[in-house]
Amino acid sequence: MSIEIDLTGSRALVTGAGAGIGREVARWLARAGATVAVLDVRADKAAETCGLIAEEHAESSGEPRAVAVVGDARDDADLERMVAEAVEQLGGLDVAVNNIGMLGPKGSAPLLDLDGDAWRDVLDQNLVLTALSMRAEARVMVEQEEAGGVIVNVTSGETTRPAPYNGVYAAAKAALNHLVTTMAVELGPEEIRVNAIAPGTTLTETVAAAFTEERMAALVAATPLRRMVEHDELARLVERFDREGKIVAAVCHGPAGLVSAKKADGTPFVADRRVAGFTDSEERAVGLDQAVPFLLETRLKELGGKHEGGPDFAPFALRDGNLVTGQNPASATRTAELVMEALKDKVA
Ligand SMILES: NC(=O)c1ccc[n+]([C@@H]2O[C@H](COP(=O)([O-])OP(=O)(O)OC[C@H]3O[C@@H](n4cnc5c(N)ncnc54)[C@H](O)[C@@H]3O)[C@@H](O)[C@H]2O)c1
Repeated sequence: MSIEIDLTGSRALVTGAGAGIGREVARWLARAGATVAVLDVRADKAAETCGLIAEEHAESSGEPRAVAVVGDARDDADLERMVAEAVEQLGGLDVAVNNIGMLGPKGSAPLLDLDGDAWRDVLDQNLVLTALSMRAEARVMVEQEEAGGVIVNVTSGETTRPAPYNGVYAAAKAALNHLVTTMAVELGPEEIRVNAIAPGTTLTETVAAAFTEERMAALVAATPLRRMVEHDELARLVERFDREGKIVAAVCHGPAGLVSAKKADGTPFVADRRVAGFTDSEERAVGLDQAVPFLLETRLKELGGKHEGGPDFAPFALRDGNLVTGQNPASATRTAELVMEALKDKVA
């Protein structure tokens, strides 16, 4: 498996890399050639991430690609110690990803039920902890022989929309977005780039455990229609578009929305059509093959679709007439290009 970014020789640390998004970021950094310090409060989970990275790089000779650094980043002194230990093990620091952050046990509640402790707890573990992480990392980057580096902070999509029941978390992450812009300007002259990425809802273990009925209701409350879209609604829309010769496009798990749709003759919409989507191999690679309701590639094939795919996580998209499908998030650009081609064909 390869990605286009080459970080050979880079030294990276990822906080909260024992699970979820942080773990996958650490694995991708290692795939790009970086040596990664995996920081986590849970020693077993940090070791597990290092083991996964070692497994993937068993064939490449040389130095280990990952080292575990264990400690509690909520303790200011322990955070400083962890960053120092990571830097010592790596021999410097080029990339830092600050990924720790969460709703916390008290954070997910209506505003009227939140007390001061809950506010401080969630602000501390999302905003203050990340600010202090940036400070520790930037100090190293400024002082090391070859000054400079990259700091990436994980914020949230919740910062761009109302977040009922998650108000403190969203406010903390929004504040973090703002802090990132300030830090980017303060640290730019030191050759340090500071950025944020804002993932949408991602089914990590923590999120799966937090998806109570109440949480689902909160998600629905933040949706303009105030309800989840039903599966057959999407199928009906796809069927109508098909009858009317309109373009249908989907990427990654999006083609799951095609499986219930039928052609005018009652056969499955995807039957005899070339189609791509998140592959079974990719599902296994992210460890969700037992969690998803069905394996998309398998289901598309069962329905008579002519499934095609490329290497795991590499861009792959195809067009079959009015149907455009892409394999994974990296395929989004190619999928959009094919939709543009299909639209141009229509107006030609
Ligand atoms: N999962 C989502 O839907 C989602 C969406 C948007 C943003 N995010 C953000 O992405 C980041 C990662 O989320 P996730 O769902 O992958 O989290 P997760 O709970 O799956 O993993 C977090 C990791 O951080 C470690 N950790 C927690 N507190 C720590 C501490 N004090 N010191 C050291 N390690 C600690 C945990 O042990 C765990 O391994 C968070 O900042 C979260 O706010 C997540």
